Amino acid sequence: MKDIRILTGKRTVFSSDRVIEILREKQIYAQKEEVIKIVEEMRMPMQMRMHTKAALSIAGWKQGYVLDVILTAGSSIESLAAKYAAGDDRLRTAVVYAMAESGLEDFEQQVLLQTSAICREEGFEIAACMPNEAADAALLERELYERLDAGRTLGIRKTDEAKRGGGKPIYRRYKLTETASEGQGEEQREYSITLLAEEETTHQAHTISCAKGSSLLQALREQNIMPPSYCGGRGTCGKCRITVKEGSLPVTLEDQKAFTREELRNGHRLACKAVLQNDLTIRIASAKEEFAVPQNDALEGIQPGADNSYQTGDYGIAIDIGTTTLAFALADLKTGQIQNTHTAVNSQRKFGADVISRIYEAEQGRQKQLQQCIREDLWNGVEALLEKNREKVRKLHHIVIAANTVMLHLLRGYSCAGFCRQPFRAVSLKKEEITFAEAFGKPFGHSFQPKVTLLPGISPFVGADITAGLFACGIAKEEQPALFLDLGTNGEMALKIEKQLFVTSTAAGPAFEGGNIKWGMGSIPGAISKVRIRNGAAEIETIRQTPPKGICGTGVIEAAAELWTAGMIDHTGRLAGEYAKQGYPLAQTESGEWIVFTQQDIREVQMAKAAIRAGIEILCMRSGVTHAQIGRVCLAGGFGYFLNIEKMASVGILPRELAEKTTAVGNSSLRGALMHLMEQNSSVMQKMAEEAKEISLAEDKSFSELYLNYMMF
Ligand code: FES
Repeated sequence: MKDIRILTGKRTVFSSDRVIEILREKQIYAQKEEVIKIVEEMRMPMQMRMHTKAALSIAGWKQGYVLDVILTAGSSIESLAAKYAAGDDRLRTAVVYAMAESGLEDFEQQVLLQTSAICREEGFEIAACMPNEAADAALLERELYERLDAGRTLGIRKTDEAKRGGGKPIYRRYKLTETASEGQGEEQREYSITLLAEEETTHQAHTISCAKGSSLLQALREQNIMPPSYCGGRGTCGKCRITVKEGSLPVTLEDQKAFTREELRNGHRLACKAVLQNDLTIRIASAKEEFAVPQNDALEGIQPGADNSYQTGDYGIAIDIGTTTLAFALADLKTGQIQNTHTAVNSQRKFGADVISRIYEAEQGRQKQLQQCIREDLWNGVEALLEKNREKVRKLHHIVIAANTVMLHLLRGYSCAGFCRQPFRAVSLKKEEITFAEAFGKPFGHSFQPKVTLLPGISPFVGADITAGLFACGIAKEEQPALFLDLGTNGEMALKIEKQLFVTSTAAGPAFEGGNIKWGMGSIPGAISKVRIRNGAAEIETIRQTPPKGICGTGVIEAAAELWTAGMIDHTGRLAGEYAKQGYPLAQTESGEWIVFTQQDIREVQMAKAAIRAGIEILCMRSGVTHAQIGRVCLAGGFGYFLNIEKMASVGILPRELAEKTTAVGNSSLRGALMHLMEQNSSVMQKMAEEAKEISLAEDKSFSELYLNYMMF
């Protein structure tokens, strides 16, 4: 590789424990509670200022090769630190630098995964990180600075580096070994992995062909076996846990962070960090995900358009591509009757649970695989519906698809580069009318070729699913101000006042989908979805009433709300007594392990709720509407459908005044796509999307203040 490659980071993870450690290493001693408090307050401002970037290059060195890497957190951290330094707030200044350092370390973990893959492509393996002795450090840094042209590629100012007290770039040199060529037998090995089902009664043997050095998660994904993986394989979410029953896997640094000593002794490992060295028998938590989806009553009562010229037997399909699940509805275009529905898990989940992971994977060269996944899912869903209605469907005329902008870009194969950096940009937001082959990658296997419509989006992070949802809820026709909310990793919201529609989106993080929660999981059978605390003890309900395995997004909100109402957390979010250390016990799994709700879980809820609530408040402020003036609130999406609105208000996600005006509207995106399909009214959504005014929270000065305010209970 002669070129310098540039990698950019995504959402940065800041660990309070690591920040405390870094401060101690720098001999800055402060009350732990005080540091944690500052870290929590600074998360969002830091998140907005961390622009992690790495430059790397392989070069000949002595008799071999080395990989040189520089990682930087960007220059915006400096101005934030300078602001606190000017106010003589030394502790906060030090915390800012320590957070930048901890965030950069997290980024280094992300980069390591990619650099290993890049090196393999180039025919190398990373053998070791070369020690950077203090005496040589300045020399090495200077050499790497020149070699990687860091002034131009990373914007690092050479002269300032030595002076900085923290947040300094990381300079690394790795020794490389050349991989043996194919046929030498060692690089491509076959390991036999026996997978045990959860109950350990059914054995399902898989022989996995695995390139030396690739991760177990990767090997499982290639076999379409998908352990949950919210962080996309970075080793930070702890969801891809497996248990080794026979054989061995070394304990990695990430395993040490994710598991207790006892869990490690019992064979718990993270699949994304596990590198195969021998045959294994493992148990994985759940290879097949089955998500609870809202009932389809949201689809009833749609009438065909007045100028309907369809014949008996003419059908159409509406599709909502969600980041987690896909929903399909087959409609009789003549009568308007819904013939059948179908749901499936979005198989792109193997690349990560949220849109950010998908963007990241696409940018790492896996765009084609992502496109293939969604095309196959769509094809299978359409075929499943037609198969069930073979006798009735004479002709499939039209398919209408609603989805967020990232999902539509992945379907169309458009570049996702514009979603990585501000100002965010989409390749296309317009409604598109395309052929079946253009959407699905191959012609339809029937005599008829339906046309395909992709609905219009408003902005990169307020997509066609929101346009369709707004259309379905009749927001444009509301006389009183009306609020529309779709909560998830990305919280999208819209406020209609008179003729104007204001929209915004806020990064809530994965807590509402069970991500970054110790026992968090998707809305699958066994997930705790309801919590009630009576006399200090928890009573729970799980999805499908099966034995508890973890806690889903709705359970997360319920647990936080109940703990708050029971007085077991204070307004800063601190858990009472010994629960602060051990977590609050919710239920025991079948194997006797306690599912606990931890202090860190509460912090995740606080960040998610603060982001949503601050978004709602900014939307109201900028459109000049008070809570009292809002006549109706529509809560869209699967998560909203199962939520207890009272509990949402009790933790402060929603203003109390709006709780009684709120109704869950289910999958409004699918309903909007269906309405478009039936009514053939092509211009309304496009007009709505074009006229909507987007409010950027990143540029709103009040956002950080409100965010910090709503972190509290
Ligand atoms: Fe392995 Fe997140 S920790 S996928």
